[in-house]
Amino acid sequence: MNSKLIRTGMAAFMACFALSAWADTAYTETVAATTGSGIVQFSELDLTPITCFTDKSNANIQVRANRSTDDNSIVIRGVKYESGVGTHAPSKAFIQLNGATSFYAIMGVDDEADETKTNEGNVDYNIVGYKDSKTNTVTLMSGSITRRDEAGVEVNLTDLSEYKYLLLEYAAGTNTWSDHCDWADARFTYTGEKPVTVAETDMFVEESGIVQLPTQGANGEEIIPLSSLDLNLCTNGWGAIKKDKSIDGNTITIGGTEYASGVGIHATAFVGVKLNGAVTAFHAIIGIDDEVLPQKADGPSVDAKVVLRAQNGSEKVVAEQTISGNGVQSFPVDITEDLSNWKYLLIYLDKGAKDSYDHVDIANAYFEYLEQNSTRPEMVAENSFSTSLDCATILFSQPGVRFMHKLHSNNPDAIITVEDLPAGLEFNEGRCLVDGTIDVEGEYTYTAVITLGEDSSRVPCTLTVSKDLQQPVPFMGWLSWNAIEDNISEDVVKAAADAMVDKGLVAAGYNYLVMDDVWHDGGRNGSTANRTSDGKPVADPAKFPNGVKACADYVHAKGMKFGIYSDAAAKTCAGAFGSFGYEEIDAKQYAEWECDLLKYDYCGAPADQATAITRYTTMGEALKNSGRNILFYICEWGVREPWKWGDRALGSTWRCTYDTRDCWVGVNGGIGITQSIAGMKDIWMYNGVNRWNDADMMCIGLNGTGKSSSHLCQKAGMTKNEYRTQMALWCMWASPLTLSNDMTKEISKVDLEIMTNEELIAINQDRMGQAGQNLAYDADGFYVMSKDLENGDVAISVTNLASASASYTFDLSKVPGLDGVTTYKVRDLVNKKDMDNATATIECPNIPTHATRVYRLSAVESGIQEVGVNGNGKLSVSAKNGAVKVCLPAAGSKRVLVSDIAGHVLATATSADQCITLPVNAPKGIYVVNVVCNGRSQSVKVTL
Ligand code: GLA
Repeated sequence: MNSKLIRTGMAAFMACFALSAWADTAYTETVAATTGSGIVQFSELDLTPITCFTDKSNANIQVRANRSTDDNSIVIRGVKYESGVGTHAPSKAFIQLNGATSFYAIMGVDDEADETKTNEGNVDYNIVGYKDSKTNTVTLMSGSITRRDEAGVEVNLTDLSEYKYLLLEYAAGTNTWSDHCDWADARFTYTGEKPVTVAETDMFVEESGIVQLPTQGANGEEIIPLSSLDLNLCTNGWGAIKKDKSIDGNTITIGGTEYASGVGIHATAFVGVKLNGAVTAFHAIIGIDDEVLPQKADGPSVDAKVVLRAQNGSEKVVAEQTISGNGVQSFPVDITEDLSNWKYLLIYLDKGAKDSYDHVDIANAYFEYLEQNSTRPEMVAENSFSTSLDCATILFSQPGVRFMHKLHSNNPDAIITVEDLPAGLEFNEGRCLVDGTIDVEGEYTYTAVITLGEDSSRVPCTLTVSKDLQQPVPFMGWLSWNAIEDNISEDVVKAAADAMVDKGLVAAGYNYLVMDDVWHDGGRNGSTANRTSDGKPVADPAKFPNGVKACADYVHAKGMKFGIYSDAAAKTCAGAFGSFGYEEIDAKQYAEWECDLLKYDYCGAPADQATAITRYTTMGEALKNSGRNILFYICEWGVREPWKWGDRALGSTWRCTYDTRDCWVGVNGGIGITQSIAGMKDIWMYNGVNRWNDADMMCIGLNGTGKSSSHLCQKAGMTKNEYRTQMALWCMWASPLTLSNDMTKEISKVDLEIMTNEELIAINQDRMGQAGQNLAYDADGFYVMSKDLENGDVAISVTNLASASASYTFDLSKVPGLDGVTTYKVRDLVNKKDMDNATATIECPNIPTHATRVYRLSAVESGIQEVGVNGNGKLSVSAKNGAVKVCLPAAGSKRVLVSDIAGHVLATATSADQCITLPVNAPKGIYVVNVVCNGRSQSVKVTL
């Protein structure tokens, strides 16, 4: 009976990713469950094998019996159903019918989904009957429904007798947002055995006897079989490793179950896979193959271990089991945790007590992989983990600027020393770093010696001291992609340049304007046909009526630099024409257009590192020969470890992560701040002057208004504390600082303050180029860093990654470069205020969730801490008639450096006089004056 009632529940607004269960939506009638003998409700079956979209930011989303996916009553167009199954597309339910004859349901998107967004809550449904195999199928119903349809769609299948299984599928439609869908009033009619739900992999297992890999992952991810990777890179104890067969070449069989896919291998063995950032799960069954049983039951015994390994070498054992012929024969491995902190999956198969008949199968082994301009997992050899120097060996510095090189090994037991240091540099053994200043330009070398037990190796290090470096400090600027995407045009470039000057962003240092993808003729369908007959690149004439050069001229006239974008393949990520095969022509053209930066992407190019190095080097050389100093920004997302070769490819910045999204935790394959941390935290030792690890665009100012950057995070944006954390981390990492908000729109005062925090920017732009060293990291706790600064100060930061506020205490005796005895002046850089002086500890009570504290510590005893800008009567800096005058009362030798906003030193002078005047031969614009005296330094901006 339908009871008519009206409830004044919440309005029919229910965002897909609301963080907690909402009250029921309004409904006007209720449909009770139809019951009776021979009827089983769908919701009475075991729902666990049903796959459903999962959302890390809303654990509420799941498959539910008699409730919607977000845990409300099931309501479709104002009708409440007491029985049914709530789910979230993409979702698949496989029903083993066991002779059930009919299925009834009302399909619909639940009223809790957001009705106002026309591109959300759109799903496709498929009901498929399976006869005697996975391929002998009949589509019984298919179509689309939306949140705005008038009523649910009725399913009334009354003759299912010829089908063994039934698939009930909701696919995502245009996207997954608000795809809360129901099987309302859903029930089966059966005689005898009830129908049951099964996992896709379990369909037809009895019939064929062979377990097949699933066709897709839990959320529609692609399946990558382990056996499809390059098995030659595995270590194998005996015989030849086999793809999809046992080591003896038989069908993989464990305990009587046969498997279609897997790897046949013999202990002692090693299988290593580099996950490359887009693997969401790994599954396998590791066991002894039946081919050696039972006759050889006493033979095989293997100690198996499955390990996740991070960039910094830390490991986590996910499974460990001795498998044998007369004990435990096999064990399952199911890794579904967040893998963003883990770089490798390693399987060790040790021969254990005996080394005979150790025929191991890694059966039914596969990765779930979410494609998003990302790179697939790949096999790596065991020897790639042997002890080595794990830090930069090609270093850069400017004459007269303090230099620091932190040496580091991937093996914490290794001892590192340094030989043949040039004059001016010293080895600090306690901290394992080279430190000093070289005044004369040139190429210098020294040798790092790395010793482990009896073994030692010598690694040459080169230091280029030059005042003409591509990028002395991390570049700062704006990239068009996040907010603008395809709509980049001359108008947008000009408006952005105007806005960046007007809003004070250029004065704050953001002086590169980079035109990202789809400036090209042909747009997303670009090809070589969009080039001139002699192969030159052409911009879209409608968007750039005056050509690219006019944009560059406009930007230059504003005192800014102009950047352009291309890709090391035939097409860019968005489908415009790329530069592969046209490197020289393109580099020359960019130079003629007077571009100052090239962001060079990697979509559509071969996955391996060697090819990436070749392709980037080709473009690096082409830029070098182009006749113009063009900053080469390598963008292959960190997959092929560009921090180890980007310097050789003549780059000076390399992206180290996939695309940042406007959220704390990335969903749908995009990365949020937590994944940026995972990607950046353990590569600090590769950062340095002219070799910058880039964490991608910051999302400050987007507040959910970006295009894919925000869409992929359900347009929620971040909290102000999260945006402040983004700024703080990027500054601590010495990452380039790139904004990505729509410059033509208003930027709120608070956002502008976050972007232009000059005290944080000062540590980012510190000339010594050190990245924040990872001191501690706990994904549910604190992330702590320290960053050495040119003048001897140390910046320390703590980020609260937990979901509640928490207190933290810095133990200064544990911070590299500090001693816990010296007293420090403490400056809070996020809130720009002085704190009490500190000696042993700094207390940080109640750090809000996802907030960051950054402190700059200056030793009280040393030098001229009274240094300050004019007005305090201490340091005075003025610029007039092409010269800069600096006065500082402190006694002692003073070094003055004048550089452009990109960090290039233009003039230096050293004198003990109180006032120093030095001529600067440079065009009008903003310059930075850096005064160093008695080991202390201060930077001041002047307009010449
Ligand atoms: C890739 C890059 C992004 C952006 C887009 C443009 O995804 O990583 O930063 O340049 O391509 O298509």
